[in-house]
Formats: sequence, C-alpha cells, structure tokens
Amino acid sequence: MIDSTPRTLRLLEHYADGEEARHFSLRLDKPLASDMAVIPGQFFMLTVPGFGEAPFTYLSLPDQQGRFSALVRRMGTLTQALFEQPVGAVLGYRGPFGKGWPLFFCARRVLIVAGGCGLAPLAGVIDEASCNRLPVRLSIIYGARNSATQVLGRERKRWRQTLPFIETCDEAMPDQRQGSPLDHLDELFAAQPPDAVLCCGPESLMLATAEACLQRGIAADKIWLSLERRMHCADGLCGHCYLGTSYVCKDGPTYRYDRYLQLQASGYPTSVALDQQPC
Ligand SMILES: Cc1cc2nc3c(=O)[nH]c(=O)nc-3n(C[C@H](O)[C@H](O)[C@H](O)COP(=O)(O)OP(=O)(O)OC[C@H]3O[C@@H](n4cnc5c(N)ncnc54)[C@H](O)[C@@H]3O)c2cc1C
Ligand code: FES
Repeated sequence: MIDSTPRTLRLLEHYADGEEARHFSLRLDKPLASDMAVIPGQFFMLTVPGFGEAPFTYLSLPDQQGRFSALVRRMGTLTQALFEQPVGAVLGYRGPFGKGWPLFFCARRVLIVAGGCGLAPLAGVIDEASCNRLPVRLSIIYGARNSATQVLGRERKRWRQTLPFIETCDEAMPDQRQGSPLDHLDELFAAQPPDAVLCCGPESLMLATAEACLQRGIAADKIWLSLERRMHCADGLCGHCYLGTSYVCKDGPTYRYDRYLQLQASGYPTSVALDQQPC
C-alpha cells in the first residue's frame, strides 16, 4: 500500500531571490536513503499545513542531515502561505517523485537552456558539472524577462566563474544581452556544438528551443524537457497530470523530445501546461 502521509520538514531559512521568488532552505527530520539518492530534476510534494500541498523541484539535493533547498515563485494561495511561514515552521514532505535529468548518457558536450524559474530544476546538474563530478562539458544560456525576474543570483555568480554562461533579458539594460535565449543559440553552437540539450522554462520556450536544436542537427532523442502539470497524488493514481498515455508525475517531469512528440501525436488527451492555464 502506498503511504501518502507527509513526513515532517523544518523551514531553516528563506530569502528573496528574484521578483516574487524566494529561496527556501529546508531540513527533513528523518531523512531516508531514498532522499539521499535524489537525482536533479526530480520533485517533492511540500505541505503547508492548512493550505494543502504542491510539487516543487529540488534546487540543492538532500544531504546526510536531510538539508536541501528549493526556489519557489509566488503564484497563489499555497505559495503565498509558504512565503509567510516563520523560520522553524514545521511543514510536510512527500518524495522524491518522478524521473530526473539523464546524467549518465554518452554526451560529452551538453547545452542547458533555461527560462525564468526554469533554471532551478537544472541547478543540480550545473552544480555537479561545475565541480567536475559529471563527465560533461556544459554551456548554459539563461533568459529572463528583465534583471528583476532573474533568479538564483548567488548560484549564477558562482557558475559564471567556471562555465560558459550567457544571460539574456527581454528588457535588457545597456550592459545586458537583449532578446530570448534562442537569439543567442548560434553563438554557443559555434563555440561548443552540443551532443545533447536539457531545457526547462515556459513550455513555449522549451518547444521553440527543441525545434531550433532539431534545425541545427541535434536529434530529438538528444533533447530533454521538463514539464509542469497540475499534480495531486504525484504517484500515478489520480490521473491529473496525464500527457497522452503517460503520467508526468511518474514518467516525467523530464521527457525526451521524441517521446514527448509521440505522446502528443498519440491521439490521447493531454492535460494543459500550467503556464498555459487561464488565470
Ligand atoms: C513537477 C513540478 C515541479 C515544480 N517545481 C517548482 C519549483 O521548483 N518552484 C516553483 O515555484 N514552482 C514549481 N512548480 C509549480 C508549483 O507547483 C505551482 O506554482 C504551485 O502549485 C502553485 O500553487 P499555489 O496554490 O500558490 O497557486 P495556485 O492557486 O495553484 O495557482 C495560482 C494561479 O497560478 C497558475 N499557476 C500555478 N502554477 C503555475 C506555473 N508553474 N506556471 C504558470 N502558472 C501557474 C494557476 O493556474 C493559477 O491561475 C512545479 C510544478 C510541477 C508540476
Ligand atoms: S498527479 Fe496523480 S497521477 Fe500524476
């Protein structure tokens, strides 16, 4: 039988990290071996008592003491309530869930394309590669609406020292690169043609990136996306997160682009992306 009772989690610290976003440091009271085996790109369900639970990605992965972090954007009731929690608050946790990014496939040069808060699910991969714990050469392109909405200020400062890292803004300041990440793809392709691409952000950006990479000769089975769907059980039971014949909570949230296209073409219904839902 599946135990869906949340485990207890403490809020250690939180600070503003981009407009309407906060960086949360959390600690599991009784970490399990499965928490220590989390792969970047997996997610957990966070309960705010009295407000329900919602899925969030691990920003840093749980350590031996059960400490990890998450980046949360304020969207509605639950995230608002989370922003108001005091340090020391007891929250609930279920996880880990889903499939993470493919870390051990034979790609030597990996391009990361992230938009907005979509940088958070990729942070674990970038950290592993910047410490040489992954046998890949990364290049990264990160787009945001403007400087105020850029997230992970501390992490980006660290990554810029060791990795090719391009940052773009739709509304750029004079010292910033203007435009969407797609406007700067050719520069990274010329400097370090990738064998594989990992992409996370608004679904429209991920699909446009995937198509741009296909046009530049990357095969669809070397392109990965991370999807966001409404989730309730997170365990393949409730059917809220379907994508054709697949459940995003179990089979995703990361999908290979060829698999994503197959599922879209399967003729089965698909739940609407969170960023395309009417407010
Ligand atoms: C696998 C997965 C991983 C996620 N990881 C993160 C994460 O690391 N950090 C994070 O901040 N969020 C993440 N999310 C999204 C997060 O779960 C939602 O933002 C949260 O559930 C919103 O809860 P709420 O009660 O505050 O807002 P709600 O009251 O549920 O929503 C308020 C309004 O915002 C819209 N909305 C909600 N979420 C989104 C969204 N993601 N994009 C666009 N519109 C949205 C709703 O449709 C609604 O109109 C993830 C979602 C999934 C499925
Ligand atoms: S959230 Fe229930 S099946 Fe995916």
